[in-house]
Amino acid sequence: MSIGQEDNDKENKIMADLIDGKAFAAKIRAEVKEDSDKLISQKQVDPCLAVVLVGENPASKVYVGQKTKMAAECNIKTKDFKLEASTDQETLLKLIDELNNDSSVHGILVQLPLPKQIDERKVIDAIVVEKDVDGFHAINAGRLSIGGDMLKKAFIPCTPLGSLLLLKDHVEDLKGKSAVVIGRSNIVGKPMSQLLIEESCTVTVVHSKTKDIEKVCSQADIIVAAIGRAEMIDSKWLKDGAVVIDVGINRISITKEDGSEGSKIVGDVDFESASEKASKITPVPGGVGPMTIACLLRNTVTSAYRHAGLDDPRSI
Ligand code: GUN
Repeated sequence: MSIGQEDNDKENKIMADLIDGKAFAAKIRAEVKEDSDKLISQKQVDPCLAVVLVGENPASKVYVGQKTKMAAECNIKTKDFKLEASTDQETLLKLIDELNNDSSVHGILVQLPLPKQIDERKVIDAIVVEKDVDGFHAINAGRLSIGGDMLKKAFIPCTPLGSLLLLKDHVEDLKGKSAVVIGRSNIVGKPMSQLLIEESCTVTVVHSKTKDIEKVCSQADIIVAAIGRAEMIDSKWLKDGAVVIDVGINRISITKEDGSEGSKIVGDVDFESASEKASKITPVPGGVGPMTIACLLRNTVTSAYRHAGLDDPRSI
């Protein structure tokens, strides 16, 4: 290698375009505010989200705080309920029942995970389908799975919806593209795969037990990574020119420049390595994260429109 070649190689590395979720989420929140303002002035209905947090999970506290703050910025009212970690299931179900019957509430968000004495599925399915703005209720999941016209009545889970909106904004035509979803959770992997099927992608879902996982991923035009393992996916997993959506939010320990210990947030994708092969990629933070909150607010205003007997203000 000649002198200076290493520097040249660095400069010549193909770097992917950034998919700016932060900017796109700001645009969606502006639309949500516009829709909210219209409902308030024309129908005298204030969109309202009930936010329920059980326990002291630090990440959940941060998410709930962000959701409440951004709701206010979009002229969505919130009703906050903070319950102790020792809360029993019956108490939580009673609160859900009250919120179901409160006509001023259009969306109910129960932040997950819940403490282990509580059956999450029981709680999620206790929320009336029409206020399930997280889209986790079995009926909303079923509607998404059926697709077509059924989607128009459903609420779509916020992280997959946000990821899809980013993809639609950055991929000219999703039809016929091969997409690999890494992870099979009810919150992200499964609904994401169904949304991509609805867009006529050819979809493969891979997970911790998949054989030759790297090889399967390396054939995909689109990768959605939602496996919850810090920086697991690097350039070797990617086809040249792949579009990469990184859903992961992982806190890792780092040693700072001054030698002290600290931490930072990274995705499921090794951003630097993946950027050498991908054509477009979401950063973490600043990619899918802000989209999740924007889509929750979007679903809440959609719910308020439906409760007022109006058509959805926006389609996917
Ligand atoms: N925990 C992690 N993501 C989510 C989400 O999208 N909604 C709720 N309710 N809890 C979560």
